[in-house]
Formats: sequence, structure tokens, C-alpha cells
Amino acid sequence: MEKLQAALDKARKSRIGNANSNVADSIRAADGTDANGDVAGLWAALPAIELREAGLLKHRVVTRTARQEATPFDILRTKALLQMRKNGWKRLAITSPMPQSGKSTMSCNLALALSRQHELRSMLFDFDLRDPTIASFFDMDPKYGIGEAMMGTVPFESQAVRYQSNLIISMAQREEADPTRILLADETGARLSAIQAEYEPDVMIFDLPSVLVNDDTRAFLKNADCALIVVRADSTQHNQFEICKREVSEQTSLLGVVLNAYRHNKKTVQTA
Ligand SMILES: Nc1ncnc2c1ncn2[C@@H]1O[C@H](COP(=O)(O)OP(=O)(O)OP(=O)(O)O)[C@@H](O)[C@H]1O
Ligand SMILES: [Mg+2]
Repeated sequence: MEKLQAALDKARKSRIGNANSNVADSIRAADGTDANGDVAGLWAALPAIELREAGLLKHRVVTRTARQEATPFDILRTKALLQMRKNGWKRLAITSPMPQSGKSTMSCNLALALSRQHELRSMLFDFDLRDPTIASFFDMDPKYGIGEAMMGTVPFESQAVRYQSNLIISMAQREEADPTRILLADETGARLSAIQAEYEPDVMIFDLPSVLVNDDTRAFLKNADCALIVVRADSTQHNQFEICKREVSEQTSLLGVVLNAYRHNKKTVQTA
């Protein structure tokens, strides 16, 4: 635990000190891409995917089109955007105290709600490397996993896909054997910096595991500018939330807390 904490402190210091940008520059140079190049061209070059409404609805993803059910997510999107812009934040982590709180549902809904803002470019990353679900939410079978893209064995442009013109999705393909290694690696931080510099997204969403089950989220949070904590009204205990909030706040800025599955008028709703 002490070793991990020391590694985290070191990584956070190096992020604050912008040391990663050197590594990001070398990755960019090695990849042969230029941060000042044609950003729209880079987006357009990614393989486009279609999303089927029925598959999305099965997973409670309701924001592909504007509709009443999408409204709470649209409100959350706008609140998050305003707050992130005010603080100059681009990278949003989504986590929870315990599993099955609705993080992936929230991440996908937020990403598709953002994709309806045509002037914005957004990215969604599935960093729940022990139990990835975003590919199944989108009914996709990715050829390569996000771990391979982060470790550089596969170029990002071969791994990521594009929905419409303004949402990039980087999915996990399978459970990774050693997720903490990837999440903690300086190379992952550098790769993300390179991707951010090249694709110039307005928002990067990271779907993460729960905080209280292992060290994965703790290892990754140094890469996020801010975090949303999703608590499930019918199952998250207060002390679990308190511990999670403390852990998250030690690593990054807390953007807010989403109370999910709050029962109101006998209907299950999501509130921001
Ligand atoms: N507001 C809600 N009302 C009812 N069911 C919900 C709600 N939000 C999410 N769910 C359901 O709860 C289950 C878990 O959701 P999801 O996979 O998004 O959670 P998670 O926090 O990402 O889980 P994990 O920790 O396993 O990654 C799914 O079946 C999802 O459809
Ligand atoms: Mg999940």
C-alpha cells in the first residue's frame, strides 16, 4: 500500500510539473503525428460506428436523441460542462464507492448527451479493465483493447472508434490480466496527454471501477482533472460514500455526486 501511495504521489507531482508532456512529445514524434496538424482530419479518419437504439435502451442508455428520459443527463452534462470550463478541466472520471452503482450507464449517457452538442468534441474511455462493459452497452466487439492502445502495442487510431463526427470511444476488449499496472503506468498518462494534444477534445470521460473494491481507480485518478461520484440511493452506505469521497478528493477535484436510482413517485429516476 505504501509503495502504491509513493508511486501515486510521484506520478501526481510529475503531472503537476508537466513532466509528462516530454513523454507525450516523444510518443507523438514516434507515432509521426503533429499536434498542429489537421484535427478534424484525425477525427474523420477514425472508423465510424452506428449505434442501435434497441441495444442502447436495453442498457438504459437514453441520450442518443433528445427526449424526456434524456433530460436529467442533459442537465448533468450542462452542469458538468459549465463547472469544467470554469476551472479549465477537460478530464472527467466517473466512479462510485461500490460496484453496480450505475457508473457505466452514466458514462455512456453523458457521452451521447455530449455528442448531441455538435460544437463540442468528446471522448469516452472504458478504464474499468477488470470488468469492462462499454463494448456490450454499444453492442460492439472491438478488435483491440484500450490496454493495448495505452501501452502502445496498437496505435490509438486502430483501436478507437468514432460515433457521429464528435464522439470518440475507446473500449476495453476483455478483462486485462494486470489492470493496476496499466492504470498506474506513466506511459498511460503520457499516451492520454498525446491523445488530448492531437485530438483536442473538449471533454474526456473515463469510466472507472469502484473505489472500495481494489486499487485501480486510486491508481488512475492522477490522470483526471475532476471526478463524479455515483452513489446508488438503494444500496450505497453512508460510510462507503464518505471513504470514497475522501479517497477521490486526495487524488483529484470532486466535480459532484450523482444520486442514482432514487425512487420518486414509485418510479426509478436518475438525478444530477
Ligand atoms: N437509475 C437506474 N435505475 C435502475 N437500474 C439502473 C439505474 N442505473 C443503472 N442501472 C442498472 O444497474 C446495473 C449496473 O449499472 P452499471 O453497469 O452502469 O453500473 P456500474 O457502476 O458501472 O457497475 P460496475 O461496478 O459493475 O462497473 C445495470 O443493469 C444498469 O442497467
Ligand atoms: Mg461499470
